[in-house]
Amino acid sequence: MTTQPNHIREELLQDLSEKFRLHNQVPPDLYTRYRIKRGLRNADGTGVLVGASRLGNVHGYIVNEGEREPIEGRLTYRGYNVYDLIHGLEQENRFGFEEVGYLLMCGELPTRSQLSDFQHTIGLERALPDNFTEDMIMRAPSRDIMNKLAGATLALYSYDANPDATTVENIMRQGISLMAKFPVIISHAYQAKRRYFDGDSMFLHVPDPERSTAENILHLVRPDGQVADDEAKLLDRCLILHAEHGGGNNSSFTVRVTSSSGTDTYSAIAAAVSSLKGPRHGGANLRVVRQFDEMKANISNWTDEDEVAAYLRKIMDGEAGDGSGLIYGMGHAIYTLSDPRAVALKKAARPLAARKGFSAEMDLIELVEKLTPAIFREKKGIDKPMCANVDMYSGLVYKMLGLPKSLYTPLFATARIVGWMAHRLEEVTTGGKIIRPAYKPLGKPVRYVNLDDR
Ligand code: COA
Repeated sequence: MTTQPNHIREELLQDLSEKFRLHNQVPPDLYTRYRIKRGLRNADGTGVLVGASRLGNVHGYIVNEGEREPIEGRLTYRGYNVYDLIHGLEQENRFGFEEVGYLLMCGELPTRSQLSDFQHTIGLERALPDNFTEDMIMRAPSRDIMNKLAGATLALYSYDANPDATTVENIMRQGISLMAKFPVIISHAYQAKRRYFDGDSMFLHVPDPERSTAENILHLVRPDGQVADDEAKLLDRCLILHAEHGGGNNSSFTVRVTSSSGTDTYSAIAAAVSSLKGPRHGGANLRVVRQFDEMKANISNWTDEDEVAAYLRKIMDGEAGDGSGLIYGMGHAIYTLSDPRAVALKKAARPLAARKGFSAEMDLIELVEKLTPAIFREKKGIDKPMCANVDMYSGLVYKMLGLPKSLYTPLFATARIVGWMAHRLEEVTTGGKIIRPAYKPLGKPVRYVNLDDR
C-alpha cells in the first residue's frame, strides 16, 4: 500500500498551529464560573441526566443521605441480570449472543422457535454484498480495523435498497443485517491488513450460516478455520458482556446524538464505531495488553508482591507504563466494588488459562487487581473503592483464543452493535427532539479588515 504524498509544508503547519494556540485558550476557571458540565458530568462525577432508557442498567453505587455508598456492580439488560443470562446459557450449554441481541433490540427473550428463526435469519444475512470484500476492503485496506469497519459500514448504505427510512421495521432489518455482517467485515479487514501491511498470507474463509457469531469469528480469523467448542463459548460470553452499557457511554451516546438528527442507520453506526476506537473508550483494552507486556518484561518474579507493587507505584508516578500515570484495567466511572463484566470474564477465563499455559499471566493480573486499590489510595490520597474493569481480562481472553491485537477493539464493536441498534431504535421512537446542548460563546466581536489592510 502506498500512502498519499504530503503537500502540506511543515512551516505552514507550525504557523497555523501557533495561531491556533494563541487564539484558542479556555481558562479552567471559566468552567466553574459558568457551571459548565464538562464531559456532561455533574460536580460529583455522576453523569448529567439526558434521557430515559429501558435497555442496559449500570449500577455501581447507591446514594444514601447525599453520600455515594459503594456496592457490588450490577449490569442488567432489559431487566435481566447479566450474570443470570450467562448462568442460564452455561446450564444449557448454548451460545447466547444472538439471543441477547434479540432481547436488547425487541425487549423480551425469544422462545425456542423465535430464537431459531432469528438465528437462521442472521445466518442468511452474514454474506457481504457481491464483491464487497474486493471493492470496499481489499482495494483500500487499512492498518486499523476500526477505521475500515467504520468505512465499510458507511459503504453498506449504497447496497441497501431502502437505506433512509426510520421506521422500526426498517431499522430492525438494518440492525439484524449489521449484527450478522460485522464479524465478516472485521475478519476480512484483518486478513487484508495481514496481506498488505504485515506481509502475511490472507485467508478469506466463507462465513458459515449454520454457526453462531462467536464460532464464525474464530473460523474467519484463523488460517485453518478450526474452532473448539469451549473457545467459541468463551468468546460468546465476551460478546454478551460487551453488548450494552447504558445510553451514557460515549459510543451509545454518539448513536443517540446522530440518530436524533434523523440520519440513516449506516451513518449513525459508523459514528459509533469511530467513538469506540478512542483509547478512553473501547481502545482501552489495547492499553491494558501493552501495560502487561511491559510488566512481564520488567518484573523478574511475577509472584513477588513487593516487586509488583513497586512497579505499580512507578506506573502511577509516570516513570513506567505509557507515562499517563494510569494503571489500565483499573477503575470505573460508575462501578465501585466490582465491575460484573470483569468478574464474569475472570471466572470464565480461569479454566482456559490453566489449559493453555497462561496461569502465571492470569495470576499476575489478579495480583495487580489486588494491589492497586491500596497503592491508588497511598498515591492519590483518595479513599475511594477501585475495582478491575472489563478491559483487565478481555485482552487476556482474546490472546488465549489466539486472536490478534488489531481485532481487540473491533470485537468490542462486533458485540456492541446490538446495544447501538437498540439505542437507535429507542432514540428514534422515544427521543422526540434533536440533541442540541449549548456552548458558552467566548469570542468577542471584531471588525472585519480588508485583505490588503491586515
Ligand atoms: N490508575 C491511576 N489513576 C487513576 C486510575 C487508574 N486506573 N483511575 C482513576 N485514576 C485517577 C484519575 O486520573 C484521577 O486523578 P486526578 O484527580 O489527578 O485527575 C483520580 O484517580 C480520580 O479519578 P476518578 O474520578 O475516579 O475517575 P473517573 O471515574 O473519571 O474515570 C476511568 C474512570 C475508567 C476513566 C479511570 O479509572 C481510568 O482512567 N482507568 C484506567 C483506564 C481504563 O482502564 N479504562 C477502561 C475503562 S472500562
